[in-house]
Amino acid sequence: MTTQTSLTVQQTARPTGFPTATDFAFVEAPVPAPGPGTALVENVYWSVDPYHREMMDGDFELNAPLEGRTLGRVVASRDPGLSEGDLVLHRQGWRTHALVTLGPNGTRKLRPHEGVPLSAYLSILGGTGLTAYVALTRTLQLSPGDDLFVSAAAGGVGTAVGRIARLLDAGRIVGSAGSAAKVAHLTAQLGFDAAFDYNDGSVRELLAKAAPSGIDTYVDNVGGDHLEAAIASLREHGRIAWVGAIGHYNTGEPPAAPRNLFEVVSKSIRLEGVLVRNHTDVQGEFEEFLVPHLQSGRVAPDVTVVEGFERIVDAFIGMLRGANLGKILVRSAG
Ligand SMILES: NC(=O)c1ccc[n+]([C@@H]2O[C@H](COP(=O)([O-])OP(=O)(O)OC[C@H]3O[C@@H](n4cnc5c(N)ncnc54)[C@H](OP(=O)(O)O)[C@@H]3O)[C@@H](O)[C@H]2O)c1
Repeated sequence: MTTQTSLTVQQTARPTGFPTATDFAFVEAPVPAPGPGTALVENVYWSVDPYHREMMDGDFELNAPLEGRTLGRVVASRDPGLSEGDLVLHRQGWRTHALVTLGPNGTRKLRPHEGVPLSAYLSILGGTGLTAYVALTRTLQLSPGDDLFVSAAAGGVGTAVGRIARLLDAGRIVGSAGSAAKVAHLTAQLGFDAAFDYNDGSVRELLAKAAPSGIDTYVDNVGGDHLEAAIASLREHGRIAWVGAIGHYNTGEPPAAPRNLFEVVSKSIRLEGVLVRNHTDVQGEFEEFLVPHLQSGRVAPDVTVVEGFERIVDAFIGMLRGANLGKILVRSAG
């Protein structure tokens, strides 16, 4: 064991609009000792996610440990299935140490694939990438040549959608993001055919310009005006995989758009929500599909790594404001 004190982040207040650091507290406690059937892990990587913002409005209990996807290393074990040094994926995030039991809440021992960096397991090969894969293959049933639009394209799910759609032989891939630098990254580094900064004007007009002949499919990470723009640009029998609504999470207001929802009927569009937790059975298929591309170097995890557990709250708030390129992760400085 490398340290005797553990740190846990707790939510202390319900935010209105964007959360601030004062909505959280770092709480110290002694490192817990593993009881029979459990193992103590020291966490190495933490994922902070947009859904945590939704949970801050009620699902996160105040002044109590929070949940989040995390990768830890076993430092002491009384679980026969785990040995010192093993890596464990679990959901007791936002803390430096956790007692884990294999099985519940998807807690599982990680058997790393050769040549795949650890950061991949909480990004493109984890729930983030699985969300993208399920949206494309199950919800949109993407066919080779289908033209695709994805919003929040430079984030975790967005970059995974772009990379996986290319592997699935999508047609034109168009993305939106919140800065000129992100737009340049999408086209220059990630192979997007076109991209635009949604701050440059009406999203509807910007998308119509970036995809002048329309789109067949849309992965929606943002909602509101982005969803309205996609409905306007979709061709007949277009499909929408609605994954998230980051444009709404910090406003406290219901969205004004889409105002053109009836085009879903007039163009025979199919709009379907996606919840990754309903598709964990696809993880094996997804790994078989993606791991060879990660090993060959054709695909790399797109991540912004923030160093040090003490910066986890800043990383979370920064992500909500667009500070990340790819999936935001926090890595233990130890
Ligand atoms: N349904 C599911 O099972 C599931 C699973 C995972 C994620 N999700 C959803 O997928 C979306 C992306 O999640 P992620 O983890 O990959 O996060 P992410 O995209 O890596 O990070 C969030 C990004 O949202 C963008 N953003 C923030 N406010 C915005 C606004 N008002 N309008 C447009 N973009 C805004 C920011 O980028 P810019 O600089 O481009 O603004 C920021 O980088 C979220 O909506 C999340 O809730 C859903």
